[in-house]
Amino acid sequence: MDMDQLKRQAAARALEEVRDGMQLGLGTGSTAKHFVELLGERVRAGLKVIGVPTSEATRADATRCGVPLTTLDEIDHLDITVDGADEIDPELNLIKGGGGALLREKIVAAASDRMIVIADESKWVQTLGRFPLPVEVIPFGLGATRRAIEKAFAQCGVSGQMAVRKAKDGHVFVTDGGHWIVDAQLERIADPPGLAGALSTIPGVVEHGLFIGLASSAVLAGGEGIRVIE
Ligand code: 5RP
Repeated sequence: MDMDQLKRQAAARALEEVRDGMQLGLGTGSTAKHFVELLGERVRAGLKVIGVPTSEATRADATRCGVPLTTLDEIDHLDITVDGADEIDPELNLIKGGGGALLREKIVAAASDRMIVIADESKWVQTLGRFPLPVEVIPFGLGATRRAIEKAFAQCGVSGQMAVRKAKDGHVFVTDGGHWIVDAQLERIADPPGLAGALSTIPGVVEHGLFIGLASSAVLAGGEGIRVIE
């Protein structure tokens, strides 16, 4: 079975948790896109839900699939957010932001009663860090922000190359919020909550891709079938 089929299976399993009347956070990325497409099929068959997209790309997908949308200004909470991840550890700590939507993804996840992470098994790791950690930054004063990030890394016992993310056209990648992303190749993050706390104190850091204590469960699809970790 190819990776895309596994992603769709994970999305289908998460869809089983969705009930009529729910308010849903809609994640970003190739796995979340499967969820939005499958949700759209159910909506067209009569399911009544409303969604908050975590990116302009997901807004476009959801609109194309007929999923009604709202904002966090119009509703006061979300029942479930379903989103992908770049890495998931046994504590359900995540690295997210490979698709550049980490800021809205974290805002939406934090406003949700439950966050279900959907992924193929390749995202499951014992220790976070092999996937470069995305840190969303303000372009102003980037040199100072980078030095502060390096200091935070040193305090937390990690180090590695940092690079400003580029888009496919070679220009700097700009997030939906108008910020830049620095990707840090750390290899092994021994203390994800500690690093998350240290990065959060830096003024030029808008948000980082460590999602700590946000995921309630992970649905992992692999060759052997589906595993749900809670
Ligand atoms: C986007 C994300 C994605 O959820 C993450 O990159 C996983 O994407 P995919 O499902 O395409 O592997 O965090 O910001």
